[in-house]
Amino acid sequence: MTAPTVSSTRHTLNFSAGPAVLPECVLEQAARDLIDLDDTGIGVLEHSHRGPSIDRIFEEAEADCRKVGRIPDEFEVLFLQGGASSQFGMIPMNFLREGCVADYVDTGSWTAKAIKDARTIGTANVAWSGDDSQYRRIPDEADLSWSKNAAYGYFCTNNTIYGTQWSDTPDCPAPLIADMSSDIFSRPIDWSRLAMAYAGAQKNIGPAGVTLVIIRKDLLEQGRTDLPAMFRYDIHAKKGSRYNTPPVFAVYCAGLVFKWILDLGGLDAVESMNRHKASLIYDAIDGSGGFYTGHADADSRSLMNIPFTTPNKELDAAFIAQASEHGMFTLKGHRSVGGIRASIYNAFPAEGCSRLAEFMGTFAASNRS
Ligand SMILES: Cc1ncc(COP(=O)(O)O)c(C=O)c1O
Repeated sequence: MTAPTVSSTRHTLNFSAGPAVLPECVLEQAARDLIDLDDTGIGVLEHSHRGPSIDRIFEEAEADCRKVGRIPDEFEVLFLQGGASSQFGMIPMNFLREGCVADYVDTGSWTAKAIKDARTIGTANVAWSGDDSQYRRIPDEADLSWSKNAAYGYFCTNNTIYGTQWSDTPDCPAPLIADMSSDIFSRPIDWSRLAMAYAGAQKNIGPAGVTLVIIRKDLLEQGRTDLPAMFRYDIHAKKGSRYNTPPVFAVYCAGLVFKWILDLGGLDAVESMNRHKASLIYDAIDGSGGFYTGHADADSRSLMNIPFTTPNKELDAAFIAQASEHGMFTLKGHRSVGGIRASIYNAFPAEGCSRLAEFMGTFAASNRS
């Protein structure tokens, strides 16, 4: 499969972990539609969320999302609010009934937060934790201790802060829920092993403000009905994600991003593009003779977020400062890992990865002791 190319006319490279770079053609279309959507003389931000233009946007966004993700019919596609973090609470509120346990795989700060929220509702068992190894790796199947009758299992496919990513979906005996906030639609998804996946939009889907939830109908039907309406998946499904005023602009942008992914050739093409991009930076780390150290173990490396360090904190700071002089921004690592982090989501151009790799080579050569 030949990898498609993402082009950008902007010289600036934005390595932000999120909100992150968006496809230029999406931004250009959005700029036009802000003033006038579909020749209505009304901008996308100004249309009623129950009018025909927004009907079209929601219908197309859902249909294109299904096409991109090859989402089977037995799943509902919902556009919700509250960010990925509100799913940390909404999932146990709906599915963690009294006397039941849910199993969580703890691979980083975002799963730790989900566990903390689940424990405000009920019993969350930790099926495995990478906490004592600074979350450097993804567990093997054999490491996971699932409970016998858990209400659900939970994991995070890509750990944005630590730069680790599952290469496969684990085999969980309970309905499995995935936080895919930082790698959704970066590669094909195996729906046969999942009961639900969700993602905050601001990395691979669009602007912050919408959370994509893809949930199997049989799980959705098990949700509690004695919750306030906004916390019930079944109500959002029944109301076509428009129970209340939805984040129209974020859904609209997500819809444009889905069309862009389809134009690139779909998720197989996107995956080969992402593999190529990540290899440019990992090769620069591995070929640096030990000057750079990646945070993640080699077999757990993420294609989306690449945290690494130089030999010391002063050089890390110098790297970030000098990179910005070359138009490379937001490379500072997350405060819990430090160092440098390059986030290279779908819309980040391969040419930007080459530029970073080249800079890494030059920087190492002039700072090696
Ligand atoms: C994997 C993962 N899950 C959850 C979140 C929280 O997302 P939000 O800010 O939309 O609540 C993030 C944010 O970066 C994330 O990377």
